[in-house]
Amino acid sequence: MKILVTGGAGYIGSHTCLELLNENYEVVVLDNLSNSFEDSLTRVKNITGKSLDFYHADLLDKEQIVKIFSENKIDAVIHFAGLKAVGESVSIPLKYFHNNITGTLNLLEVMNDFNVKNIVFSSSATVYGDPASLPIKEDFPLSATNPYGRTKLMIEEILEDLFRSDQNWNIALLRYFNPVGAHESGLIGEDPFDIPNNLVPFISKVAIGSLPELSVFGNDYNTSDGTGIRDYIHVVDLALGHIKTLPKLFTNPGVVIYNLGTGIGYSVLEMINGFKEQSGKDIPYKIVDRRPGDIAACWADPKKAKKDLNWEANKTLADMCKDTWNWQKKNPNGYRESNREN
Ligand code: NAD
Ligand code: UD1
Repeated sequence: MKILVTGGAGYIGSHTCLELLNENYEVVVLDNLSNSFEDSLTRVKNITGKSLDFYHADLLDKEQIVKIFSENKIDAVIHFAGLKAVGESVSIPLKYFHNNITGTLNLLEVMNDFNVKNIVFSSSATVYGDPASLPIKEDFPLSATNPYGRTKLMIEEILEDLFRSDQNWNIALLRYFNPVGAHESGLIGEDPFDIPNNLVPFISKVAIGSLPELSVFGNDYNTSDGTGIRDYIHVVDLALGHIKTLPKLFTNPGVVIYNLGTGIGYSVLEMINGFKEQSGKDIPYKIVDRRPGDIAACWADPKKAKKDLNWEANKTLADMCKDTWNWQKKNPNGYRESNREN
């Protein structure tokens, strides 16, 4: 079975390519490297001792997608490629709509032309907006509060319309909660191009000393310690969720939707303490105002994925912190050391 992984050089994509190779899938990656380094894939090959094909290509260039489908008999696509910074999506929405929506439409048109109608799409818990109750189930109401979230919601709707028009499509919408951590080898991990927006990469940069202190966005939420609560999921567990989704896709299920989360929520202060314990480093922090648009708490009900896919997250908070730190320590400048100037 040959799987096309769009955005496969990125954070979640590279971890998923690794697990696909471990399961003996053939892997073809399409990535424009706008937020990643090809070195992630070199390392995936080194870890697994297996090869994959990489196309430095952009989803906005349809001819490049056609070339890949002409040269490879693809069985299914895992579609990670997209821009993902919420704040940036608010300042430059058109870029986000163009990249994420047009890129996906180009991909779907080519898939349709080549009669490849199996796709796994990276959606996000952001499509639940501010949930009325917890834990979040897949049938909760959906909404978007920023252009990034709207691209996820729109793509989900586009895919559902596509299925309504042609029931030969099989579509898995995977709604990720908060991916963190890194492969236990410490060879691949998350490598934000700029100052991280997300909590765990930020903590990790503070621990290594490249950022002075963490700002904790509010301690007056209605939560156990007043700070925001999220469902952090180890990226390897998340990658394995994709591996478990593929066989389901090949049973012709139509549209299926799964939360990929642990079902456990941790506060910002619990994350800081977890990281302190695993790294042995101090994490200086100060409490600042709430970040606009943030919700108090969010965690998944992951039972549907357990029942249908026989998948559940196994890694602990300690694993998430330990593996993030291992990656950070071994690669203080991420992938830049091996293929770019600092
Ligand atoms: P990432 O930025 O590391 O990976 C995305 C990859 O897509 C990058 O390698 C980038 O170069 C590539 N890309 C972007 N636009 C492209 C285009 N037009 N053509 C070709 N390649 C393109 O991000 P990630 O964290 O690995 O996220 C993967 C997917 O999961 C994204 O769709 C993201 O929105 C979604 N997601 C991520 C999170 C998270 O917190 N990381 C949470 C929920 C959902
Ligand atoms: C962010 C995105 C969301 C995306 C999710 C998963 C925003 C507004 N939302 O959500 O769309 O689906 O990532 O990638 O960016 N925090 C701090 N200090 C920091 C950073 C974060 O206190 O420097 C707090 C936040 O207030 C929150 C928690 O840490 O309570 C997690 O934040 P973050 O990692 O940015 O993820 P989300 O806000 O859940």
